[in-house]
Amino acid sequence: MSTIIFLSFVIAFFLIMAEQFFNLLFRGYAPFISTRPQAIDKIVADLELPGKAVVYELGCGKAPLLRALSRKYPQADLIGIENEPVPYLIASIQANLAKTNIRIKRKNLFNISLADADAVYCYLNPKMMAKLEKKFLSECRNGAIVISYQFPMPELKPEKILEVGEGEKVYFYRIKK
Ligand SMILES: C[S@@+](CC[C@H](N)C(=O)[O-])C[C@H]1O[C@@H](n2cnc3c(N)ncnc32)[C@H](O)[C@@H]1O
Repeated sequence: MSTIIFLSFVIAFFLIMAEQFFNLLFRGYAPFISTRPQAIDKIVADLELPGKAVVYELGCGKAPLLRALSRKYPQADLIGIENEPVPYLIASIQANLAKTNIRIKRKNLFNISLADADAVYCYLNPKMMAKLEKKFLSECRNGAIVISYQFPMPELKPEKILEVGEGEKVYFYRIKK
């Protein structure tokens, strides 16, 4: 019995690793690396949102931005989107245990609607930002804010660039329609 349980864990581990490898290599998806906590603090200090804002963290990992925002905006609707099972589980457990206003969804970020977003946060990669730029322009409403850690979008001009460390930049965009 214990051998079967052990083997199930080993198989599950290899399936998860294989999926992650495939996503990184063949789909060009960003890996699971967290935004530095000091950068999160500076972004949150800089951001002014309505109290009931709808905020998405696309590819949320452990959802560091949403966790910081939940303290400042307890009435906001904070939604984390994550496709990999391990970060999804960690973020969901943390959000539930702390009884926050954060909802974590296991989805591909390219397949969700951003029509209700007041703000969107990303720490992804240049290829994903180029693809997302079209999605932001077609789905986000006028005035929505898009924030990208380290990776600018190819066409849109940032409204502001925040230096949060040595060679570490955060790009703020305002969607205009
Ligand atoms: C660089 S990490 C950033 C994590 C977190 N947002 C942060 O700032 O600490 C990128 C995350 O995006 C997730 N991701 C990559 N491609 C995705 C996709 N197509 N749909 C959903 N999540 C994705 C990865 O699994 C990873 O957890």
